Formats: sequence, structure tokens, C-alpha cells
Amino acid sequence: MTAKIIDGTAIAQQVRDEVAERVRTLATRGVEPGLAVVLVGENPASVSYVRGKTRDAAAVGMRSETIRVPADVSQEELLRLVNELNENPGWHGVLVQLPLPDHIDERSITEAVMPEKDVDGLHPVNVGRLFRGEPGFLSCTPHGVIQMLLRSGHDPAGKHAVVCGRSNLVGKPLAGLLMQKRRGGNATVTVCHTGTPDIATYTRQADILIAVMGRPGTIAADMVREGAVVIDVGVNAIPDATKKSGQRLVGDVDFDSVAQKAAAITPVPGGVGPMTRAMLLWNTVLAASGGPESLDR
Ligand code: GUN
Repeated sequence: MTAKIIDGTAIAQQVRDEVAERVRTLATRGVEPGLAVVLVGENPASVSYVRGKTRDAAAVGMRSETIRVPADVSQEELLRLVNELNENPGWHGVLVQLPLPDHIDERSITEAVMPEKDVDGLHPVNVGRLFRGEPGFLSCTPHGVIQMLLRSGHDPAGKHAVVCGRSNLVGKPLAGLLMQKRRGGNATVTVCHTGTPDIATYTRQADILIAVMGRPGTIAADMVREGAVVIDVGVNAIPDATKKSGQRLVGDVDFDSVAQKAAAITPVPGGVGPMTRAMLLWNTVLAASGGPESLDR
């Protein structure tokens, strides 16, 4: 079997078109959705991710601004900035790009963003709502994965989904979404992690296999069931002398061999990454429309 490619770039464009339509509708009501992004320091990956987020916002007619803060900012100054953004009615969404420098307590910054503007869906209130199946902002990468599955004809309902990785950013909330009794959920979910002996025993049982480990080539062909749907959330830079930058991006899945066995697979780049940014815009439109309760997903 040679896998069909699940094209994240194309599906993200679909989502952005829908968001752009909602932005136009909001404009007729005098509402202009606004997204404030805080970027601390010069981490090259973060700089690149944030550039992608603001470029996508512009593409759907959304107002966004990146507030750049030096890496040696104090915790108090950063908290003050987040509070200012919280209180400014012009910003419907507020996002602090992670990771933060070591001297900053990431948890208190994440919790400082008010849940009603937490378009990242990382505040514990929104994470709690996600797990309880209540309206709240869904974290962007997990929601992007669900939308990718649905829109490519791979509804997780009734399937065995195996999530490899248990990060707060992706693994845990993704498992939470997949198990919900709602559209995009209803899967039977197994979560594998560094404490799982013989991970392949589980991955080989997956109808939908999701790799979120952050290590290149961790999922090899012998770990995948023939005909599985494989979603690669990993983004790893590896040395490549043929590239001008001296490196290239690969996922956690050994793409070439797994693509021979899977029914469908996401590429890296061009898979989950664009979906994460699209769902951020989606959340920002929801925030500007009166919150996640205001629209059906
Ligand atoms: N760093 C990597 N992914 C993300 C994300 O989705 N949100 C934020 N705030 N930081 C990130």
C-alpha cells in the first residue's frame, strides 16, 4: 500500500477561507477581531512560528500584532504586559509564544492570560473544559489534528487511536479530544509515553496513529499496522548539507518506509503545522464573536 498524503496546507487553507468569511461577517457588525502575540527573546523556531501566525492572520483580514520582549524581561514585567493585553478590549486573543526563557515561570504566565482571551487553549480552565466536554477554547494543535482527520475523511469515531506522547501542549489534550462523546471524538484511545514498555505492541494496534514524541524517525514501518492513518506532529531540525540553512525539518515518523504501509499519512512540513495556525485564527474569531459558546464547531 502507498499512503495517500493528507495535505495540511490545503486543509488549513479551507479553514482560513471559513475564518475569512466570519471575519467579513463580523466587520458588518463593526467588530474587528484582534490577535496579540507576545514573543520573548530570539529563539529562531519561535520567531519563525510567530511570523507564520501573523502572516496567516493578515491573510484572513485579521488584525494582529507581535509584541517583542527582550529575553531578560522579568517575570513581573511580562505579567504586567499580559495584564495590559487582557484589559485592552481591542485584543480578542492573547498568546504568549512558548517556550519561555528559564528564569520565567511558564505556568504562571500561561495562567495569567484570561481564559476568555486564551486562543491558544492552554489555560488550565480551557484544558479542563476540553476534558469535561464543555465549551472552551480547544488547544490549537490537537484541534488541528482532529479537523485534519475529519476533513480528510478519517473520522475517529469507533476507531482505535494511539497517541504517542503525553505533553501538555499536544499529547494530553489530543487524547482528551479523541475520547469525547462528540464529533471528532468517540475513539478508543491509548496513550503511549516514555514509561510504556514495548511501544510497538500498542502502535501496531492503531487504526489512527499519532506521533508526538519530538524525536525524528521514532515511528518505523514495523510499528505500523497495514492500512493505518498516521499523523505526524513532530517537527525536528536535522543536519542536511544540501540545504542552504544546513538543516531540514522532519517529523517523528520515518516517512518513506511508513508511507509504504499506511493508508494515509501527514507530511512534515506541510502537515499539522499549518493546521495549528489555522485553528488559532478560528479561536480568535470565536473570541471576537462572543466566546466559544457562540458558534457550533
Ligand atoms: N510553542 C509551540 N507550539 C506552541 C503553541 O501552540 N502555542 C504557544 N503559545 N507556543 C507554542
